[in-house]
Amino acid sequence: MNLFEPTMDSESTEGQEGPVALDQLGELRRTDDCNGLRAEDVGREAVLMGWVQKRRDHGGLIFVDLRDREGITQVVFDPQISGQAHERAGILRSEYVIAAKGVTRFRPEGMANSKLPTGEIEVAATELRVLNSSKTPPFQVDDDVEASENIRLKYRYLDLRRPKLFKNLFLRHKVAQLTRGYFNERGFIDVETPVLTRSTPEGARDYLVPSRVNAGKFFALPQSPQLFKQLLMISGFERYYQIVKCFRDEDLRADRQPEFTQLDIEMSFIREEDIFELIEGWIDLIFHEMKGLSPSIPFARMTYSEAMDRYGTDRPDMRFGLELTDVTGIVAQSEFRVFRQAVERSGIVKALRVPGGKDLSRKELDDLIEFVKIFGAQGMAWIKIQPDGWQSPIAKFLSPDIQQGLEKRLGIETGDIIFFVADQPKIVNDSLGNLRVRLGRQLGLIDPNEFNFIWITDFPLVQWDHEEKRYTSVHHPFTAPAESDIGLLETHPEQVRSRAYDLVLNGIEIGGGSIRIHQQEVQKRVFDALGITAEQAQEKFGFLLEALQFGAPPHGGVAFGLDRLVMLLCGSNSIREVIAFPKTQKATCLMTSAPSEADVNQLLELCLKVEGERKQ
Ligand code: AMO
Ligand code: AMP
Repeated sequence: MNLFEPTMDSESTEGQEGPVALDQLGELRRTDDCNGLRAEDVGREAVLMGWVQKRRDHGGLIFVDLRDREGITQVVFDPQISGQAHERAGILRSEYVIAAKGVTRFRPEGMANSKLPTGEIEVAATELRVLNSSKTPPFQVDDDVEASENIRLKYRYLDLRRPKLFKNLFLRHKVAQLTRGYFNERGFIDVETPVLTRSTPEGARDYLVPSRVNAGKFFALPQSPQLFKQLLMISGFERYYQIVKCFRDEDLRADRQPEFTQLDIEMSFIREEDIFELIEGWIDLIFHEMKGLSPSIPFARMTYSEAMDRYGTDRPDMRFGLELTDVTGIVAQSEFRVFRQAVERSGIVKALRVPGGKDLSRKELDDLIEFVKIFGAQGMAWIKIQPDGWQSPIAKFLSPDIQQGLEKRLGIETGDIIFFVADQPKIVNDSLGNLRVRLGRQLGLIDPNEFNFIWITDFPLVQWDHEEKRYTSVHHPFTAPAESDIGLLETHPEQVRSRAYDLVLNGIEIGGGSIRIHQQEVQKRVFDALGITAEQAQEKFGFLLEALQFGAPPHGGVAFGLDRLVMLLCGSNSIREVIAFPKTQKATCLMTSAPSEADVNQLLELCLKVEGERKQ
């Protein structure tokens, strides 16, 4: 098939400049792409095909920047060379599709464009065919695009013409190919798992699909293939991988989409170390091939509790310092009511020392205080360490003993600012953990070219859910408890560590997994700890519980957010930049207008009735 045969015949089009006569390609065959011609091609005839990026009329000469997915080449229409081509070039507008034949020549002295790889040459056209016209695009197809993201998402097919987005998606394609190669070579089998399935508990809401044949019943789209990959291990497949879509109805963020892609992996007869080694080899390959970088292997490791302690989060950005310090013991007896009361209510007080921070203005301080309130803090106290002493609204409440204690504990130096938040541990960690990242950016402490990986290990197995008033899994309920902690399952479930691990890159969780429970007995005890009754377990995961009784091998695995990894490789700050047709923050597609209302007949067939809109 010739990819470049025009799909439209020469009937009239909608261009608002009036109908344009469209030519057939005739004998023309594309010889080069728009990034192919260089000085050594001067004198050679070439046929280029692509889109008009820009047309400029210059006293008799017409210049066209011709763009295809590979790049841009300047084509010159000179009436002295071809009167007909020159005349036709007069009708060209942005995004018209053309074929141009001509001879490659050097641009005149001083006219080379060093910003373009093809900037030394141009093609002097002898022939021009207009393959299609274009309506005036709603925005200029250019990487310096100014249009809002909503307009670009509505016309995503035009947005995807931008070189940057094509480059991102091409990189994504290469990452997927390298990944397949890596796992294929190591004996992993790519197995597809169902999309119409039952709920998989990964902590989000399900997307439901009504069944027409089984009226009143619903499929759930998988939040991950978790249960199926475990079943494949029970089936004896030993090594499974899949690049797979997952669906989660949750609050969206820059690094969260309702449908996203995982690299999903499961292996039998392994321990944590085997997974770490496998993944470090894969990451090394990807970074070497895509970035020419060799991340330092093995990756650093840190326990969950150390990460929470020092960074206030289980996904610490390790590219810069600014650690948190617990000062509860030092300030518990202080005169400062806020600190004392927090401690009395079994809260904690943590401090963040920022070297050089004494120069923050009053306005900057107020902004930071407002910022931590987003994370639940009631307020934030601060101390500036000026050359002539401490400057702070709270210094007068801190006795010399306490001041000395803080100085020693925090390693205080002149020029610092120290921030304090007192509250329940979650609020303190969220507030100061996020403040740390914000200040890291604001103060230029982060090297944007660094890729810093860290494994987070020893997560707690369960956490208390205040709304549901029961323990819930930190990962998912199939994660194995640490051998040494199993005895605590019934008495102190919150103290049981799990065999789960996450991989964090520059403060973003790119992957997570665990060694699984492979014995039905242990699985039952974990369900008990989670307050899942035998009936509920049977109803939801009966098939897994049963399968575990038929010789389940020890197994474990991991899943990576492919979109997130590619986003970081591309240096983008939103996964929408690496997904061809992403959804908005409100989980809609502006191009197709999905989701949309269903036809009454469809609803009838599905035995569904829509009760009207829910109030937001
Ligand atoms: P988890 O829920 O941690 O684990 O998901 C694995 C990885 O998927 C990515 N991710 C997302 N990316 C974009 N948008 C989302 N909404 C989204 N949600 C998650 C993250 C995350 O690290 N079945 C387990 C894995 C296992 O135990 O093997 C699971 O799905 O990068
Ligand atoms: P207040 O007495 O509430 O006006 O607070 C006095 C100072 O303590 C102000 O600088 C507040 O920002 C700060 N502050 C209030 N609540 C907290 C808190 N939970 N942790 C740390 N500082 C706080």
